[in-house]
Amino acid sequence: MASLTKHILIVDNDFNFSALLSDFFLKKGWVVYTAKDGQQAVNNVHTNDPDIILMNVDLPVRDGIATCNLLRRDIAIARQYPIIMMGAFPDKKKIVKSIEAGCDDFIVKPFKFDVLINKIEKIADFYRKKINIPKQEDGVDYKEEEQEAEIIVYSRNAVKKIFSNTMNDRRIEYPVVQKVVDNMVKILHRENNLPMAFKMKSYNDYIYIHSINVASLSMSFAYHLKWEPSDLQIVGEGGFLHDIGKTRIDLQILMKPDKLTDAEFSEMKKHPSLGRDILVKENITDGIQKIALEHHERINGSGYPNSLSGGQISKFGKLAAIIDAYDALTTDRCFKGAVDSLDALKIMSEPAGQFDQILFDKFADLIKNETIGK
Ligand SMILES: [Fe+2]
Ligand SMILES: [Fe+2]
Repeated sequence: MASLTKHILIVDNDFNFSALLSDFFLKKGWVVYTAKDGQQAVNNVHTNDPDIILMNVDLPVRDGIATCNLLRRDIAIARQYPIIMMGAFPDKKKIVKSIEAGCDDFIVKPFKFDVLINKIEKIADFYRKKINIPKQEDGVDYKEEEQEAEIIVYSRNAVKKIFSNTMNDRRIEYPVVQKVVDNMVKILHRENNLPMAFKMKSYNDYIYIHSINVASLSMSFAYHLKWEPSDLQIVGEGGFLHDIGKTRIDLQILMKPDKLTDAEFSEMKKHPSLGRDILVKENITDGIQKIALEHHERINGSGYPNSLSGGQISKFGKLAAIIDAYDALTTDRCFKGAVDSLDALKIMSEPAGQFDQILFDKFADLIKNETIGK
């Protein structure tokens, strides 16, 4: 950014709200641009090159989601702008659609301006831009849905970035995974559960969401098992990274809507070893390597890639196998629909002996008691 002045584009057709926001940022010494629909927003971005865009999801002419999509694909725009979407109703579908369109965060209206500033700070941090906003003195109280939206946004962005870096042979941004897991651990201890994993099931960018689900479900389960905090960290980070080897698998195979041929399946079965190799190269903890390598192993030796059995599989591998299978069954995929949680447990128990029996029984109890939600 050339100057110390910050430039914000506010896109909202609610004139009063837009004026209120403008006033708030003008008083902070920011330069404010406004647009009242999606078309004006795109024109404004081309002309004014703002530092951040704050856009209502519902807009005339072209709504916020379509506008965000357009901005992210517009080759005339040299850089990626931080975009925060605003919406009057905490509708999860709209939040997810906005994220899929490429927005960085979602804020539920009405909101405290402090909360907005807090989000802008975090996004600025995420974009590694020095917007240089003074820190808030007090902590900001988030409402539950805001907290959830935030975790969804940041986890998804983090996982997406990790996968795209690995696909492009760049380093995994491991500190980002640690930070996301740290935040999830804090919420886990405060709220005593991580229900958002269950609320994200219908989303179609499966590979990212699956990684977040496996991370949060693994942490919830390990927490229930009273595992050490250091183990919670391992299963959380391992959940994010367990399928990282898929970045080395041909996309045609990865996204194939039909059943894989035998040759394709053999290719797919390489992802645990490929994942472990990536993590070894990055010097990432042994427990996390085990989760990547062992999450498709089965206690009765029927798994892959090494047909390990019983005691040869680490406790992390045993836990990850249960969570990975459960999430794969209960999530919509390109080639199959989801089954409900009780059916998933039934499928997993036939034939018996695939999963560590003690762990599996405890997991089944947890799901049946809905301790971690549905
Ligand atoms: Fe896998
Ligand atoms: Fe997986």
